[in-house]
Amino acid sequence: MFEEAQLYSPVTTDEDGNVTVHLVEGHPGLKDPEYQRRRNEIAAVSLAWQPGDPLPRIDYTETEHEVWRTVCEHLGPLHSRHACRAFNDAVRALDLPRDRVPQLSEVTDGLQGLTGFSYVPAPGIVPLEEFYGSLEDGIFHSTQYLRHHAAPLYTPEPDLLHEVMGHGNLLADPSVASLNRLAGAAARRVTTPEALQVVADVFWFTVEFGVLWEEGSLKAYGAGILSSYGEIEEFGSMEIRPLDFAAMATIDYDITHYQPVLFAADSFGQMVDEVGGFFAACDDETPDRLGVVRKPG
Ligand SMILES: [Fe+2]
Repeated sequence: MFEEAQLYSPVTTDEDGNVTVHLVEGHPGLKDPEYQRRRNEIAAVSLAWQPGDPLPRIDYTETEHEVWRTVCEHLGPLHSRHACRAFNDAVRALDLPRDRVPQLSEVTDGLQGLTGFSYVPAPGIVPLEEFYGSLEDGIFHSTQYLRHHAAPLYTPEPDLLHEVMGHGNLLADPSVASLNRLAGAAARRVTTPEALQVVADVFWFTVEFGVLWEEGSLKAYGAGILSSYGEIEEFGSMEIRPLDFAAMATIDYDITHYQPVLFAADSFGQMVDEVGGFFAACDDETPDRLGVVRKPG
């Protein structure tokens, strides 16, 4: 589990301006030159975008539309069973296409009317401060590429499906959108790397991989679970602990390996209050208060 982690493939630009995406080891696209060419092409479009420009439009191929359709077909019924009510309501409210890949501009248009969020393109990983900080302004940095078509239900890195199917739908819920803004404000407020890491860790175990109790059943509200075919079927068999920010900030987790612990809120309301309250109060003293041991060096 948690293979669908934040393991972005590095993106470089050479002196001639050629953009290259260096796919991570084990990526299903590594042996497919056409996929790599396409990834470079999409990364170059994202990279060229500047704030204030119109959102870039990608002419997705039929293969890419098919990947989107396949994942929607598989995840749709699983969302009905395993996602929290707020997520399923938000999916209906945002009403994104299931038969083709949506453009970032369509995601933005939908979210603007619901919670004021907008999507902007990212070629790959965005620095922590910028990714989290801009959430305060209602801006979500999103990749635009899709996973490899040979393995539509698996991706070693966050692709458009994760960003839109998971985060985008969640950001259509006003409480979740506020929570993301509070996380962004916390990331901007803190001034030490340790405190920023605490924000990232709590974000990981809540916004990405959070679960909660709803009428006696464990449901998912984390984008990483809700956008992953494997995770959504397995999360019920994980070790489930109550919300515990100190544990989230101190537990040793490896995003590339099976992560056996999830933190469950008692309800959607409790999650919003507690997690939102945590981000609202988060400051440079938070790591000490939580007992985070400063790593040497
Ligand atoms: Fe994510």
